[in-house]
Amino acid sequence: MRDSNIVVGLDIGTTKVCVVVAEKDEAGKLNILGHGRALSEGLQRATVVNINKTVEAIRSAVADAERESSIRITGVNVGISGAHVHCINSNSEISVNQSGVVNASDVRRFLEKAKTNIRYLDIDHEIIHVIPQEFIVDDQEGVLDPIGMAGTTMRGSAYIVVGMKTKIRNIRQCVEKAGLIVNDMTFEPVASGLAVMKESERKSGVVIVDIGGGTTEVAIYIEGAIRFSEVIKVAANDVTHDVAYGIKALYEVAEELKIRHGCAYQGGREEDEEVLIEGTEGRAPKSFMKSSLTLIIEARMMEIFELIRDAVKRSGYFDYLNAGAVITGGGSLIPGTEALAAQILGLDVRGGFPEGISGGIKRSINNPMYATVMGLVAHSFENRHTGHTVEHVASDGSEPTQPPDGQDDEETGEDGQKKTFTDRLKEWWEKL
Ligand SMILES: Nc1ncnc2c1ncn2[C@@H]1O[C@H](COP(=O)(O)OP(=O)(O)OP(=O)(O)O)[C@@H](O)[C@H]1O
Ligand SMILES: [Mg+2]
Repeated sequence: MRDSNIVVGLDIGTTKVCVVVAEKDEAGKLNILGHGRALSEGLQRATVVNINKTVEAIRSAVADAERESSIRITGVNVGISGAHVHCINSNSEISVNQSGVVNASDVRRFLEKAKTNIRYLDIDHEIIHVIPQEFIVDDQEGVLDPIGMAGTTMRGSAYIVVGMKTKIRNIRQCVEKAGLIVNDMTFEPVASGLAVMKESERKSGVVIVDIGGGTTEVAIYIEGAIRFSEVIKVAANDVTHDVAYGIKALYEVAEELKIRHGCAYQGGREEDEEVLIEGTEGRAPKSFMKSSLTLIIEARMMEIFELIRDAVKRSGYFDYLNAGAVITGGGSLIPGTEALAAQILGLDVRGGFPEGISGGIKRSINNPMYATVMGLVAHSFENRHTGHTVEHVASDGSEPTQPPDGQDDEETGEDGQKKTFTDRLKEWWEKL
């Protein structure tokens, strides 16, 4: 039996691949039915460099999530990121049809016009998303769904996310080789933002920063809509490399030291102490002061926040960030990160944990490392692309009686729910 109220997010990160199976409860919160995680060794800076290793990690994470949830996963919303992804703000203006009430065909023409602005898109790039920012119907600003509104002209803008065809194809190939259907692809900063930001922050103006292992992602929201995003190729694994280099230790040892004793802000540590590293594989044990570790970590974290500050200033939105910054991703877990970020960015800063989760395994998923995957799930619910996502497994674990055909539900809206504006928008866009 299929369940259209269940969605699956797949985050193929530089350090881990993770899967979350979730449903929405009556209160509209995400009830996590299962999750799985595997070490990721097939990516560099969020880009696939080894298909087989990535496929293996996806299979392993999916198997864990299936076991925990008793759900057979067939389709996923997969995240996409990397420095190859770029975003373009595109303006558009059309005359409303003769009836004077905005209809679907008006929106289609609006999007066609927005698309002509990116007609110089490189041949090796393709569109990942078209996110409407706002519609202005005559003089009515800030309209999110214009259909049915009376007016003579419609203006506005769309946020168009494009990426390199080959890199997108590699992600798709990995997912499909792992036996899954790609229901949807979501730009990861968009997903992380959805998971950690509050509606009031989104309206007031906020920058979301996701410090992962290989990339740091930045997304700016002003007046409810995404305005800017960027993927920076320096992140928390670089901190580990610096620690390994600085104290001359194996990468794995440096990673453990960073997590157990690391601090990103010299002002944050009160008393210095000696840290002992056990000798491994015939190496002699050695010791160093915690303050030296902090010095190494702080230097790299400062660089990361300076790059973020440069990106935010370049965006032109710095002065509009009334809600400051929300810092998420595994790299945000280094103590002192928020204090350092506040000092360098010159903004109010808070840590970003995935919001709106209910259910028994909330605790294991309520971690900034899971912001992206939780956002992928939230985005799927927003889009209601849930038709061919999962199948329940019989209680004896046997195969489902009806094999998935993988295609029909999305077309027919089997869940019987009225299509959302986003659904329609996506369909129209695909027809362009
Ligand atoms: N408790 C912790 N304290 C400090 N750092 C941590 C902690 N947990 C994880 N990290 C760091 O977070 C990083 C991984 O973060 P995350 O899981 O968000 O990355 P990812 O999604 O795999 O990578 P990317 O988004 O760049 O593709 C690693 O560098 C890891 O060392
Ligand atoms: Mg990530």
